[in-house]
Amino acid sequence: MTLEVIVLAAGKGTRMHSALPKVLHELAGRALLDHVLDTAAALEPVRTHVICGHGAAAVREHRGQAGDINWVEQAKQLGTGHAVSQALPHVQPESTVLVLYGDVPLIRTETLRALLGARVSDNLTLLTAKAINPTGYGRIVRDNAGAIRAVVEEPDATEAERQISEINTGFMAGTTEGLRSWLGKIDTANTQGEYYLTDVIGCAVHSGVEVVSVNCEDPFEIVGVNSRADLAKVERLFQSRQAESLMDAGLTLHDPARFDLRGQLAFEQDCVVDVNVVMTGTVNLGTRVSIGPNCQITDSEIGNGVEIRANSIVEGAKIADGCTVGPFARIRPGTTLAPGARVGNFVETKNASLGEDSKANHLAYVGDAQVGKRVNIGAGVITCNYDGANKHQTVIGDDAFIGSNSALVAPVTVGEGATVGAGSAVSRDVPSGQLALTRAEQKVRDGWQRPQKKKS
Ligand code: UD1
Ligand code: CA
Repeated sequence: MTLEVIVLAAGKGTRMHSALPKVLHELAGRALLDHVLDTAAALEPVRTHVICGHGAAAVREHRGQAGDINWVEQAKQLGTGHAVSQALPHVQPESTVLVLYGDVPLIRTETLRALLGARVSDNLTLLTAKAINPTGYGRIVRDNAGAIRAVVEEPDATEAERQISEINTGFMAGTTEGLRSWLGKIDTANTQGEYYLTDVIGCAVHSGVEVVSVNCEDPFEIVGVNSRADLAKVERLFQSRQAESLMDAGLTLHDPARFDLRGQLAFEQDCVVDVNVVMTGTVNLGTRVSIGPNCQITDSEIGNGVEIRANSIVEGAKIADGCTVGPFARIRPGTTLAPGARVGNFVETKNASLGEDSKANHLAYVGDAQVGKRVNIGAGVITCNYDGANKHQTVIGDDAFIGSNSALVAPVTVGEGATVGAGSAVSRDVPSGQLALTRAEQKVRDGWQRPQKKKS
């Protein structure tokens, strides 16, 4: 049987108090909806239908032109049952339909596989859970033999029904035909005046179709996002699970509660990450990489034995084996550090390559620059790459020495082995092996006296 997925994502998310549709709020750096669609994609459905309503245009735009989704607009949110029935005309009659939620992002593929695995002939499968606090959820009503009879929404439940601790997670799978016929029978005669998807359970039972429950063991998976507090809770759950699996795979995290990964991290043996580190995008670490406290690493490749010291920001960089970065370094996109290069405190680099064993240890800006091997860039050196209109390149040859507080006015080339004296403003090329010096000569006045403070 083919599988089709319906994702409910039309709700407003009133309690988010946001201009952004709820399903576009981010969990670990990605929209809630993207997490759900990834999970759905892992099940390889023939088609995924997303029910959108509030902020539909923004939601569709977020997903771009990827034509793998059938967008179904639900102009008015008349209830979860109404939402699913909007998609059914687009679903093939012989399919199994799986219902997911755009605001329940932590559901795992394995759990959904179990739910689908319980599907036989024309039965309906429902993911349920034992809740310590069932408040707010639909309750699973069973008969004396333990068979499911119905799902009752909390506002419609009797006092006795509210005591039931088994709850409806909302996730279900059934046949297109079954859902179509049951959804045709439901109405809005309930406390909330909505078309409840959950009413199909009772309909199925009435039509003699078996409803099978699959218990979700992990309460983490079914947490829905209705408020900013929920979003924060889901983020913490996600991050702590992720940190656990990274540690299981061999990463040292000094404090897993103070590490956030919003993307993908690959690492080799014996890497150590100190506290308050945030990684974003795709980050690759070689062996024995050490990341100090309070660092932000984004879309970067970091080689073996690299040390990123405290309070450094690294983005879009390639850092080769044995480099040292920071403390307080800012490595901006397009930076390449060759093996053994060192970038120290209060140094900013951008679109710059530093050759092997070159160093810029203190207070420098190296932008749009190509720096050779074993170059020393002194404290306070600035590549003046911008003339107010265009960016220009600075090229520094191997073994050059750039004295402290020099300004290299690009476009300019400092030849191999050349020296720039401290405090120079270099605006013409410096030939290899030569000394360039532009500072005013020092004068010493014989017999000069410091002014004295007048006595009053
Ligand atoms: C629903 C279930 C409840 C279950 C709970 C689990 C129903 C009637 N109740 O309740 O049994 O315990 O989920 O979290 O299904 N949506 C639409 N269009 C609509 C209405 C809702 O797309 O017309 C979307 C919402 O955006 C949301 C999801 O469906 O993502 C669930 O709707 P919501 O109103 O939050 O249902 P609950 O009251 O949580
Ligand atoms: Ca909800």
